[in-house]
Amino acid sequence: MEQQMRSSGNSPKGGWLSTLIDLVLSYYARIISQPFQSGLVWFLGGLGGALFVGWILFPMALYSEQTQPINFSHAIHTMPDIGLDEPTELGRCLHCHSFRNDGTFAGIPKLETCMECHDDPESPLGETAEEKKFLKQYVANEKEVPWFSYYKQPDCVYFPHIAHVKMGKIDCRTCHGDHAKTDNLPLYKKNRLTKYSINIWGKHISGYKANTWDRMKMDDCAECHTKTGHEENNACFVCHK
Ligand code: HEC
Ligand code: HEC
Ligand code: HEC
Ligand code: HEC
Ligand code: HEC
Repeated sequence: MEQQMRSSGNSPKGGWLSTLIDLVLSYYARIISQPFQSGLVWFLGGLGGALFVGWILFPMALYSEQTQPINFSHAIHTMPDIGLDEPTELGRCLHCHSFRNDGTFAGIPKLETCMECHDDPESPLGETAEEKKFLKQYVANEKEVPWFSYYKQPDCVYFPHIAHVKMGKIDCRTCHGDHAKTDNLPLYKKNRLTKYSINIWGKHISGYKANTWDRMKMDDCAECHTKTGHEENNACFVCHK
């Protein structure tokens, strides 16, 4: 009796709603049970194909990849006991990446700095094959290592390290991430269209940025200037001399 009452009480609403649900379910059941006739296979295949091209093939084709001439370990060379007479880590960075007397940044060190320690091509300081290669190809011939620079901006951009490191007191890591903690150099990836390194335009084509160092485009520079109360540096002529 109660059973009957409940079901009959529900019937007006349950009626059209369950018909609708049945209709929708049977529609999907038909699509799934007849994937070819219904076009499901073609739809999913097309979607998968588009995602594969967009997310995997296109980014792969977009960048040319080059290996650095030798592998340089920052992890080894920034250790306190490496032989640089600098008590702090920043001091060791600035020994190799020094400021000239006029305040300009020397960037990647020249062979001369390496030869403060790697002075004799016949007697390596460690055991690695990489060091022997470095001694044989570069130190013995006094030839500069042709490094690829991951962070180099186009020539039209003026970026003074001294304003950021000395005046702004910003950590190297804020803009360069953990490059100085690594043992192995990443591939150098250059965007074939813009000619920019992947470190400038960012790893994600979508523009997604999880860390301050993921990208260093014009708006990333300006964003930090605004955040740190230095909007005065967001005029074109400040960054483009
Ligand atoms: C302050 C001294 C010092 C300076 C300056 C220095 N090195 Fe070294 N380097 C060492 C020592 C010590 C080792 C051996 C570490 C080991 O294998 O235990 C080493 C190891 C290496 C190796 C083999 C390990 C590796 O993969 O990094 C390479 C290659 C190398 N150095 C290249 C360079 C280059 C290029 C420069 C200049 C930019 C340079 N070094 C500057 C002290 C120095
Ligand atoms: C012994 C010398 C030496 C020391 C000390 C050193 N570096 Fe370097 N650094 C190099 C060399 C050589 C390269 C070029 C190869 C490479 O990309 O690692 C380089 C490259 C870099 C780059 C990449 C620049 C670019 O555009 O490709 C960054 C960033 C960097 N160093 C940061 C640091 C920081 C931060 C420290 C201190 C924690 C440091 N380095 C200490 C020698 C040194
Ligand atoms: C505010 C962001 C920022 C900070 C902080 C910063 N850098 Fe840079 N770094 C850059 C930019 C931008 C470039 C590219 C400059 C250019 O192309 O003129 C660069 C380039 C470099 C290069 C390559 C230069 C070349 O000529 O190839 C090295 C090496 C480097 N930085 C090391 C460091 C070290 C070491 C520190 C800390 C003492 C540091 N940077 C702090 C943003 C920064
Ligand atoms: C993480 C924060 C940060 C990022 C990223 C940053 N800047 Fe700055 N920048 C500053 C600060 C802070 C100052 C002001 C320093 C001061 O005068 O104390 C400044 C000052 C400057 C100045 C003025 C220097 C002077 O002589 O007065 C220029 C030019 C500049 N930035 C260019 C750039 C460019 C180009 C980029 C991107 C490639 C960039 N900055 C990225 C924080 C940043
Ligand atoms: C805070 C620093 C900063 C300011 C301010 C700034 N730029 Fe830039 N600009 C950059 C950097 C860094 C790049 C290279 C990376 C990129 O393309 O975003 C760049 C790239 C460009 C390019 C492309 C150049 C090329 O070779 O691809 C143009 C054009 C340009 N800027 C124009 C302007 C104009 C116009 C203004 C003023 C409205 C301006 N910029 C203000 C930092 C700045």
